[in-house]
Amino acid sequence: MVDRDVMAALAALEAHRVEIGHHTIADFFASDPGRFDRLHLRLGDLLFDYSKHRITDATLAHLIALARAANLEERRAELFAGVKVNLTEHRPALHMALRNFSGRAVMVEGQDVMPGIFAVREKLYAFANEVRTGAVRGATGKRFTDIVNIGIGGSDLGPAMAARALSPFVQKGLRAHFVSNVDGADLSDTLAPLDLATTLFVVASKTFTTQETMANAASARARVAAALGEDAVGHHFAAVSTRLDLVANFGIREERVFGFSDWVGGRYSLWSSIGLTLAIAIGPEYFDDFLRGGHEVDDHFAEAPLQENIPVLMGLLGVWYRNVWGYGAHAVIPYDQRLARFPAYLQQLDMESNGKSVRRGGGQVSMATAPVIWGEPGTNGQHAFFQMLHQGTDIVPVDFLVAAEPIDADASHHQLLVANCLAQSEALMHGRSRHEVDVQLAAQGLSQAAAARLAPHKVFAGNRPSSMLMYRRLDPHMLGRLVALYEHKVFVQSVIWDINAFDQWGVELGKELANRLAPIVADDEASTQGLNASTAGLIDYRRMLTGA
Ligand code: F6P
Repeated sequence: MVDRDVMAALAALEAHRVEIGHHTIADFFASDPGRFDRLHLRLGDLLFDYSKHRITDATLAHLIALARAANLEERRAELFAGVKVNLTEHRPALHMALRNFSGRAVMVEGQDVMPGIFAVREKLYAFANEVRTGAVRGATGKRFTDIVNIGIGGSDLGPAMAARALSPFVQKGLRAHFVSNVDGADLSDTLAPLDLATTLFVVASKTFTTQETMANAASARARVAAALGEDAVGHHFAAVSTRLDLVANFGIREERVFGFSDWVGGRYSLWSSIGLTLAIAIGPEYFDDFLRGGHEVDDHFAEAPLQENIPVLMGLLGVWYRNVWGYGAHAVIPYDQRLARFPAYLQQLDMESNGKSVRRGGGQVSMATAPVIWGEPGTNGQHAFFQMLHQGTDIVPVDFLVAAEPIDADASHHQLLVANCLAQSEALMHGRSRHEVDVQLAAQGLSQAAAARLAPHKVFAGNRPSSMLMYRRLDPHMLGRLVALYEHKVFVQSVIWDINAFDQWGVELGKELANRLAPIVADDEASTQGLNASTAGLIDYRRMLTGA
């Protein structure tokens, strides 16, 4: 039934695309002075402008019909109710509970999980404050100045992205660093300028088994033990994990260990104890603001009618381009240098959640799922890949993000930043016609022949869609709203595609093969027999290069 209705709604969208396909976004603006007023939404000071899309009111009606056909409202209610929406791991996905300030219980298996969340957060805030005030110090009695988070994926990208985004809110004299890659250069380069006597390591791993994190944690531990003595380890390490048993084996003191529950997915875990490094850096009050921003979006997502619901529209617009127009990529361009890691964070959130070909019930999906998510801050991107966005053969819908005012930055720079952001979204939409180019070249005094040769290169087709998220400033509350908006957008798309957004089996095979190859790479005498010819050849070549 659902299937049939979804396919019918998609077919209706397809027919509708053919109907409106010859109109440009610029045409829509030209014929409708009220377009912007109608096609934007507000959530506090956040404005979501979706007027520069290839849509009409009828498109939106079709998209909402698609959402209803996929039972989005029911599925959203299940998510919030703690139903085990992560079917393959038999778990709910309740990261929203971590930012629940409603006073309402959140039930998992008949138990309210809120008291447990409050207790862990209280312990975490107390520890964060102790580090910030110097009540907790290193083995030699010196205050901690540097916090090194050791984690990967969701145990790295979230805190690393947020610590950078919120750098003006970080306590003076404290610096947060993030080591994730098993490449030893990551740990070495990060530690090179640091004094271990003033460095606190936070080992962040939901499973406490992840190869990269365990390797980095073991090396960091060895360095601390070598520099400050084995007894110093207890002073210089804290841990965040759902596997408290494994943390204990590592030798981290119980009062320095912060848990969370397995119903928090790794890429949704920034709100949990995985935020410890961030909480130390910006302090409990700002961390609370961050959580409250997320909670505000949860209320909006849970309660706003579909057609006035920002994450719902973000998700549906993505489906419109992915499934009806066939666009395979989506760019996120923050005009904010401090959001430099936001696109990378969203890559995991979106592509690890929805980069799947199997439906919840086990059948193959019959439509395209997660596009490639990518991006870099503007204005830098303008001088790199924007050429392709404007004149390439592929159309890439863009999300622009920009604050109205800067924090701790020059106002005149910020005006230029905003002007560039607005200019790019308009340039993508409007383009520049051959006629406009001809007029421009004639005004520059080019001969007719020279103008004719150059003109085709200067034409911009335009009609390239983008959304704009504009807000007052990038503070902790705003960042919480942004992250939660994208989380729910991803969920909306997973509902349309009928996939489980909360597991990640696709990362397993590579992990298993790496574990199988590790001893062969480590031992130059080990036989490569039985390996794929390419893998064996490359191992032999490396042995030759290293003189083995
Ligand atoms: O790469 C897969 C993954 O399981 C991610 O989902 C997760 O965020 C990351 O590894 C790190 O896992 P852990 O926190 O258990 O170390």
